[in-house]
Amino acid sequence: MSESARQQCINPDCRQAYPVTEVHVACARCQGLLDVRYDWSRLPAPKSLNFFEHRWSTKGISAEGRLDFSGVWRFRELMPFYRTEDDIVTIGEGRTVLQQADLLGRELGMRPGRLLLQYEGLNPSGSFKDNGMAAAFTHARMVAAQRVACASTGNTSASLAMFASLARMQGIVFIGSGKIALGKLSQALDYGALTLQIQGDFDACLRRIRQIAEDRPELGIYLMNSVNPFRLEGQKSIMYRVLEALDWQSPDWVIVPGGNLGNCSAFGKAFEELKELGLVRKIPRLAVINATGANTLHELYANQKVRWSDGRYDQAKIDALYADMDRRGYHPHTVASAIEISRPVNLPKALRALAIMNGLTRQVSDEEILEMRALVARFGFGCEPASAASVAGLKLLIDQKVIGPEEQVVCILTGHELKDPNVTVKYHTGVDLKAAADTAPRSEPAGRLVNRPVPVPDDLGAIIAALGA
Ligand code: F0G
Repeated sequence: MSESARQQCINPDCRQAYPVTEVHVACARCQGLLDVRYDWSRLPAPKSLNFFEHRWSTKGISAEGRLDFSGVWRFRELMPFYRTEDDIVTIGEGRTVLQQADLLGRELGMRPGRLLLQYEGLNPSGSFKDNGMAAAFTHARMVAAQRVACASTGNTSASLAMFASLARMQGIVFIGSGKIALGKLSQALDYGALTLQIQGDFDACLRRIRQIAEDRPELGIYLMNSVNPFRLEGQKSIMYRVLEALDWQSPDWVIVPGGNLGNCSAFGKAFEELKELGLVRKIPRLAVINATGANTLHELYANQKVRWSDGRYDQAKIDALYADMDRRGYHPHTVASAIEISRPVNLPKALRALAIMNGLTRQVSDEEILEMRALVARFGFGCEPASAASVAGLKLLIDQKVIGPEEQVVCILTGHELKDPNVTVKYHTGVDLKAAADTAPRSEPAGRLVNRPVPVPDDLGAIIAALGA
């Protein structure tokens, strides 16, 4: 299949293409972001989305049955970059649910049946990242990668660590010191990833890991962040499952939190392709919700009116904003640590998704995020703070009369409630467990499988030394 797929630069003035059997962190010619693109006329693309329904009865534990069991790979004809099905990595990801949330909807002023929550926290590692990792690990296996790495606000590292251990590759994660929720840190350690705690925030971690993956090929590090275009191929499946739950009819709105902007980018690409293939008639509108303390996309899109403009977006405005952040010594800050990001790498693709899905952006405060997180949980199974930004964004859009009570809305709940129990306990009791943990007396861990995080300064040489190269 892979001859009909290629990696391609999204810059309309470049469009350089690369075989899918190569590894690129960015376009080698212009440093632009890469997409995976398909020659659909040479591929057995389905004629209708009903095609996928037969897989509900063929799922199982045989090799093919496992692909049909996966909520990502049961849609494999829509992401056909792999050579053969033997390449495919799956751990049972993407078996998530779309739930009608009438009680929550009523609190927000919506009519019954109109609010739906897509629970991506039900993935094996507890977040939507597993959708993307299934695809990126498939590509890593195609190119025989041995060491895979990411920078992360927590969930990417948990997902990478889980897949790496199951796919027998070395997992390496860069996290900002003190920046990630405890549930996520505990996963990376438990699944055996080499965990570097860099003195800096997510943006610093990502800068370093990109430098290492791009400029130090001798270290053989395969990059798993969402600049990896294969990640986004897997994340398209979140939209396929939403459609599947709605009998293949598009909702009116999809609302998603925005951090590094991979997820919203994948949603835009999913609908662009479905439309091109004639598999959907209507494309839903997209709302991407930032936290006010990490609002780069909202600032550029809503305030400075930066638009995709067929790929010729206003880079000067973006550069000016980043230069201003540097001048002010600005660092993002939000209780929703998963989206505490000020330089989202997928910004151009997010602008493209907003164009494809007639989208908009909003920002919501930490207080609104905390209240909405608690409200989601009050009516049953909850979510982590970043996920609740989508519901807080919906409330704002209803208050602003942008979304009406009759419209059908899907909020993506990106991560499991248990990822960040500290925020929940603090909300209900006022006790900050994280602060308490910092001052508590320590004992030497003595278990046979102890995997301690390694503290490292934000310095290339020190990081390379810590990688054991
Ligand atoms: N929600 C959760 C729970 C997340 O973990 C993330 C991103 C997002 C939303 C934002 O998604 O980056 O695609 O816009 N977490 C990344 C990580 C950055 O490292 O785990 P995005």
